[in-house]
Amino acid sequence: MKNFIKNKIVFTIILLLSISVAALAQIKWEVPKKDNDKISFQMFNEDMANDGRLLYELSCASCHGVPTETNYALMVPSPGDPADEVMQNQTDGSLFYKIAVGRDQMPKFEDVLAEDEIWNIVAYFRSFNPSYIQPIPDLDGIVIPEFDVELAYDENVDKLVVKVKADGSTGLDVEVSAFIKTMFGKYALGKTLTNSVGIAYFDVDSKIPGDSLGYLTTIVKVKKGYGFKKVTEKLQMGTPTTKISAIAGRHLWSTDDNAPFWLDFIFHATIIFIWGAMFIVIYQLRKLKKVV
Ligand code: HEC
Repeated sequence: MKNFIKNKIVFTIILLLSISVAALAQIKWEVPKKDNDKISFQMFNEDMANDGRLLYELSCASCHGVPTETNYALMVPSPGDPADEVMQNQTDGSLFYKIAVGRDQMPKFEDVLAEDEIWNIVAYFRSFNPSYIQPIPDLDGIVIPEFDVELAYDENVDKLVVKVKADGSTGLDVEVSAFIKTMFGKYALGKTLTNSVGIAYFDVDSKIPGDSLGYLTTIVKVKKGYGFKKVTEKLQMGTPTTKISAIAGRHLWSTDDNAPFWLDFIFHATIIFIWGAMFIVIYQLRKLKKVV
């Protein structure tokens, strides 16, 4: 028996030691130097931070909580609050890398979020840090193109037409990706390069339900080198749809007129019957009291 207890103690000590070694090994999250030094070529602005906030609320808040409220999930290692020093003292590149690559319970987002979306999240994180100064990219001969983007829908061929100008002239070989905003996120129409006249086409399924006039919120991103632009516009590309409440016609209490007659009848008859039964019982009880 004594031996058994001794074995148990030794076993427990070994277990505790290995757990703490594992925990210690996890505390430091090494970020390769190249990634640590990476910076955004776009200066963070309110628009980016706002987009980052929406993405954060959708994909991150369940574990990281509401920034500044330290109400993140209890996990080991801790996810942490984006507004805390631990995150704010890291470089933009380090945050980008950790979001993109993930580790253990921290999911890997590089296959889910586009590069600009991850930067938008970093911009959102930085909006909680008044002393943050964004590093300015050393452009040394690199020219960042300024884009002009025009969207149109050609209903004869069901195509979204994106016309791109870079620095005032035809935008050749510009990477264009297009999306349609849906209730739960966005639906990708595809990614392509502009042709020799600076135009990119995307097939659109005109059966996609739009608003009551068939408008769809269309998001187009153009990218070349370090140049980037995002345009959001409503285009009449979908099928006009009137939204009907999900419970319309199914909810006995709010829309009585949709209930069949027999259901209405049974419902009211039951109420009258129950009240009647209670009334009779109370009446009889009173009689009983008089007798006693
Ligand atoms: C399922 C829970 C979960 C979700 C969802 C999640 N995270 Fe995390 N996150 C974690 C955990 C746990 C850690 C700590 C991981 C570690 O240190 O190994 C972490 C770590 C991080 C870190 C590094 C923190 C540090 O101290 O260095 C960043 C940055 C981060 N998450 C950002 C995000 C962003 C942005 C999203 C959404 C796009 C997100 N996380 C979604 C759980 C999550």
